Amino acid sequence: MRDFLRRLPKAELHLHIEGSLEPELMFSLAERNGIRLPYGSVEEVRAAYDFADLQSFLDLYYQGMSVLRTAEDFHDLAMDYFRRASAEGVVHVEMHFDPQAHLARGVELPVVMEGLSRARRQAWRELGVSSAMILAFLRDRPAEEAMQVLESAAPYWEMLDAVGLDSAEQGNPPEKFAAVFRFARELGIPRVAHAGEEGPPAYIREALDLLDVCRIDHGVRCLEDPTLVARLRDERVVLTVCPLSNVRLRVVERMSDHPLPQLLEAGLTLTLNSDDPAYFGGGMLENFAACHEAFGWSKETFTGLARNALEAAFMSDERRQALL
Ligand code: HPA
Ligand code: ZN
Repeated sequence: MRDFLRRLPKAELHLHIEGSLEPELMFSLAERNGIRLPYGSVEEVRAAYDFADLQSFLDLYYQGMSVLRTAEDFHDLAMDYFRRASAEGVVHVEMHFDPQAHLARGVELPVVMEGLSRARRQAWRELGVSSAMILAFLRDRPAEEAMQVLESAAPYWEMLDAVGLDSAEQGNPPEKFAAVFRFARELGIPRVAHAGEEGPPAYIREALDLLDVCRIDHGVRCLEDPTLVARLRDERVVLTVCPLSNVRLRVVERMSDHPLPQLLEAGLTLTLNSDDPAYFGGGMLENFAACHEAFGWSKETFTGLARNALEAAFMSDERRQALL
């Protein structure tokens, strides 16, 4: 089965590129940039990845990315991930990236864009892996700051496949970003948002109604609201579910408790994704394999889930036809 899952052409719709930073690369970039890490070894870093909730992960995630300073760093980060993903049978990667987390450290948007863009071209040329860019706003920062980021990204609007919304969800409802997402819509930029990971089902509704998103990232808490589930099913809203992430951030206690079987049974349009593979115990293949182990799904089920991702991906129709 693992061989089948590896060979299955997979599109990843929910990945934070900064969350693909493996401890080995963290150390080599720290050395290159003369940055001191609060860890003595790669093993110590991995041992620190024991999270109680989303916030305890975010604290280490923002600390880890402090080693990213130059365009070359962002290039190396993304290429390192593209190579690993390609070896796992991933053919398309949509990467969220967090400009505000870099701006706060004095790293300007052009540095990030240059490094990531160069890696995307190289991944396509050398690995045949296509990719998309999702500029994510940090929802625990003020909406005015998000608006400034979107305005200052004007030279890159054409390169953005979507804008997204991530970071600490509780107490930061989608409504807070209605004006920012309205502006993105006026610019013709598609929209996605994290909702219903730790936050309530109401945040999923708000993301649909106020942010006009085409996909919900996570969305697993929709099951608490049967009317919402029916709506998501009828409107064929894509959920980008991240099973290992949900276990590591204690959204669920263990894989066998994960609501994926119920979500599937409810007729929702699901995709499987890795979220932050360096922090949550593996990439796309590990997430697919964990579902097989926990739920015993058939090849047809996995093929269907992989197909959902290809159909929902931000890619040209030509590329989609070649992959479907
Ligand atoms: N949830 C919310 N924000 C994030 C995550 C996540 O899993 N990863 C990086 N930013
Ligand atoms: Zn995420």
